[in-house]
Amino acid sequence: MKLRSIELALPDPAGAAAWMVDVWGLYPAEVRGSVHYLRGTGTMPYLVAFEQSDAEFVRSTTFTCSDAELAAIKARVADKGWAARPVTSTDPGDGAGLLVELPEGTILRFLAGSSEVDPIDGFSKASKRVSPVKLTHVVFNSTDAELLGHAVEDVLDFRVSDRTKGMVFVRCNDSHHSTAFARAGFASLNHVAFEMDDLDAVMRGIGWMRDNGFTPAWGPGRHGPGDNVYAYYIAPFGPVIEYSTAVEKVPADYRTGEPDDWTWPDNRIDQWGVSDKDFARLRIAEERFRCRRDWDPQPL
Ligand SMILES: [Fe+2]
Repeated sequence: MKLRSIELALPDPAGAAAWMVDVWGLYPAEVRGSVHYLRGTGTMPYLVAFEQSDAEFVRSTTFTCSDAELAAIKARVADKGWAARPVTSTDPGDGAGLLVELPEGTILRFLAGSSEVDPIDGFSKASKRVSPVKLTHVVFNSTDAELLGHAVEDVLDFRVSDRTKGMVFVRCNDSHHSTAFARAGFASLNHVAFEMDDLDAVMRGIGWMRDNGFTPAWGPGRHGPGDNVYAYYIAPFGPVIEYSTAVEKVPADYRTGEPDDWTWPDNRIDQWGVSDKDFARLRIAEERFRCRRDWDPQPL
């Protein structure tokens, strides 16, 4: 199972795509109708899709999986009676599978038979530019993160890696987390994290963002759970996005950490002790994009 992409709707997809290319470092993949698809340097056909809509919302977050994984998810989703429908993807990479709505409304799409592409070379160091490789996690706000953690373990065969006071971190492969549910008191998109090649790429990305007038809303720093390096920004079109790298690989028998395992000394919120966090601005951005189901459930 792999996290592949997020599909967002917003008023100006062309403007959002241009910023994600010129400043954030993604590459144009394709434009189909009004939908702009952007890729990284890795093998996924695209990481972000922007479609035109007067409203801002998350259409789906897409995972790719094997036929066997898809069949197992389908059976358990049908058994639970979650809102779902079969889908055939018309996005780059194709594939077919299902859309499913989790409790609280988060919409995930699982595709089998989808194709990948050849990786591409990123920018040269001399260019001062950097490019994300792929998505590494998409995090959702929730009113009941515990319920969602148990639900995705039971129905999607995901595993909770760690629980903290703020989050339930969930994996779908050996990466410490591909998603997480934040204990926010509301349901929405929390942030989208892009995997960078290494620590140097994160730092050079921060430099290019600074050249373009953007400073981190949180970071740089190194998280506790997952051990990844981060720098969070608020994109000019709304959502919180992250440069990330070096997320921990965990074994299948990884001991699930509990909140008491993950506490910080006073005045610290990361391992390095260097990061400031603009809680107020992040909170506003985290409430902007909510999942929207504009389809009717169908038998799987
Ligand atoms: Fe993150």
